[in-house]
Amino acid sequence: FFALFQQITVSLMMCVGTAVIGSLQFGYNTGVINAPQKIIEKFINETWFNRYGDQISPNSLTAIWSIAVSIFSVGGIFGSFSVGLFVNRFGRRNSMLMANVLAFIAAALMGFSKMARSWEMLIIGRFVVGLYSGLSTGFVPMYVGEVSPTSLRGALGTLHQLGIVIGILIAQVFGIEFIMGNDKLWPLLLGFTFVFAVIQCILLPLCPESPRFLLINKNEENKAKTVLKKLRGTTDVSSDMQEMKDESRQMMREKKVTILELFRSHLYRQPLIIAVVLQLSQQLSGINAVFYYSTRIFENAGVKQPVYATIGAGVVNTAFTVVSLFIVERAGRRSLHLLGLLGMAGSAVLMTIALALLEKLSWMSYVSIAAIFSFVAFFEIGPGPIPWFIVAELFSQGPRPSAIAVAGFSNWTANFIVGMCFQYVEVSRKNDQGKPLDLIFVFVK
Ligand code: GLC
Repeated sequence: FFALFQQITVSLMMCVGTAVIGSLQFGYNTGVINAPQKIIEKFINETWFNRYGDQISPNSLTAIWSIAVSIFSVGGIFGSFSVGLFVNRFGRRNSMLMANVLAFIAAALMGFSKMARSWEMLIIGRFVVGLYSGLSTGFVPMYVGEVSPTSLRGALGTLHQLGIVIGILIAQVFGIEFIMGNDKLWPLLLGFTFVFAVIQCILLPLCPESPRFLLINKNEENKAKTVLKKLRGTTDVSSDMQEMKDESRQMMREKKVTILELFRSHLYRQPLIIAVVLQLSQQLSGINAVFYYSTRIFENAGVKQPVYATIGAGVVNTAFTVVSLFIVERAGRRSLHLLGLLGMAGSAVLMTIALALLEKLSWMSYVSIAAIFSFVAFFEIGPGPIPWFIVAELFSQGPRPSAIAVAGFSNWTANFIVGMCFQYVEVSRKNDQGKPLDLIFVFVK
């Protein structure tokens, strides 16, 4: 076990650490709109009033807010689907570097939306940062998978997820009222994405290009060897080189595989189904209903300090991702994923019971907190990290970019559906004393 971790060199950590700033950005923007929902809704309300001289209707407000939240995943859909356009042309590292332009544009749009009295800028900014995040969910697992030694691909692949959850947690903490989650500073909270972009732009040029890309796509054997020696911390990289050359030879036969060919060839059918179903199970579990809306969920469940409960969910989320990091190479991907989904289903049932009994027993609000915490914990055991890195693992260099694009597309589409519909289901739950939402929750599980 420790021998495994001895393979981690400074250079490898530098590459992985810099790449996962992209994951952190994705997480930050997933979690950032959770705590300040009420405050930003107030801004939308005031802007509406200034423009039209009338209060905004609750329906329009729900619509604008749901769009602002979930257009992020529409950006993600387009971004993740475009991964293949970049990685083979510009390389993995340069693609990550270029994507930061989007993060800067998004930060400016969101950061200045209040000043410009425009919720449209907020919405467009969320879309653009979604584009960035969609690209990241392709670039990062690909780069990390390609620089890592095979025996550590799972553990280092989990760092993508760790980046995401730390990003979510930072956003939740920054969203506390006395930090940035207030009327005055919320634009800074959203624009903060700028800082991560600057850090990544400084560090990326110090990281090497993926050796697999150098050898297999560019045929630059010497460069690939030099990079590998640095990454592995030894001068003997012959087994890595041999493995890549074998893959290269195989790729000469299979060439670059387009998305259409990926669907047509029966060779890829099974791994493709696995990849897509894993992504769908991750998102349709409803995890992002928690990370987009938990403050509102806790509030409705009678929790006194909902923002702190949200942060609690972020802490549990991070802690269990670390647990997964240490067990993923030993326990196996399949069992962890299954165990995670099973635990999530159990937690959802507990949540349903807690909400149903809330009116009779006020302490059920604590049960609902416990239910959400365990929901999140089980998620991070498997369904959180595994789908992201398994695609790079299941496909060889030829079909990898297309497979990652298709998997990312499935993930983000399901993410969008949950983000967009949850508020509506929740509103109807309140009107109907709970039945439809609870039923749908259980049904989806
Ligand atoms: C995974 C999901 C992402 C979710 C996060 C929560 O990375 O892809 O949508 O927000 O986990 O930890």
